[in-house]
Amino acid sequence: MKILMCSPEFYGIEYEINPWMNKKIKTDHSLALSQWKKLQQIISDCGAKVELMPSVKGWPDMVFTANAGLVFDSKIILSHFKHKERQGETPYFKEWFLKAGYDIFIDPLKDKRIPAFEGAGDALFAGEKLFCGYGFRTDPHFYEEITFIPKEKMILCELVDPYFYHIDTCFCPLNEEQAIWYPEAFTKDSQQRIQDQIELIAVKEEEARHFACNAVVLDKNIILPKNCPEISTTLTNMGFTVHTTEMTEYIKAGGACKCLTLRLD
Ligand code: ARG
Repeated sequence: MKILMCSPEFYGIEYEINPWMNKKIKTDHSLALSQWKKLQQIISDCGAKVELMPSVKGWPDMVFTANAGLVFDSKIILSHFKHKERQGETPYFKEWFLKAGYDIFIDPLKDKRIPAFEGAGDALFAGEKLFCGYGFRTDPHFYEEITFIPKEKMILCELVDPYFYHIDTCFCPLNEEQAIWYPEAFTKDSQQRIQDQIELIAVKEEEARHFACNAVVLDKNIILPKNCPEISTTLTNMGFTVHTTEMTEYIKAGGACKCLTLRLD
């Protein structure tokens, strides 16, 4: 298990590209750093190797490595960020993946006609199935570019609530057969489509708004933000080891545990 993270050295709320972000509500820099380090520690304690990539001044959301791209074997599909505020992150992520020996499968820096796509923030594997979020950041046509996954394995999931603008804010596979989710974040059609593919455990609204679904799953360990007691108990009763950790400084930007990580294998 390998996870990519990026230090929050230059993290902050410098613009507003989702309804959680408010430039007047600043982050506490040292608290953000300690919350990030704690997450890194829990991930390592769960037996995963954390790879670090350098942070870059001027790109405050780079800490959210989930949005770097989508990893598949030794291939990386680089993100084509919807907002210009994040587009400048891509060359740095590209450089890291090239150095790490990945093949760049889709490169929006070379091919400008690639539709918008925000990586593992919007596309999540459960076994061989890829749950493909769209509606706010990712353009559904993007998924036509992924030719190495059979069409029937790609489940298109339309998001409707701007507070749940990436699929990883409202859906989290636990393994090949089960996922937690906040159903109201999806259109009725997409709810049905998801239900047809995987067994689901619903998270209540209050906990979904505390980013309960933004969980890091490392085999039987699950890391999620504090203040999600009901789903934590449910997951514990299912046999998972639940770790909860403070994420207040990242929720101000519309992210939490999972957004701060990118699974590399
Ligand atoms: N402020 C960032 C944005 O709006 C947060 C990204 C959260 N990432 C995620 N994978 N949900 O893009």
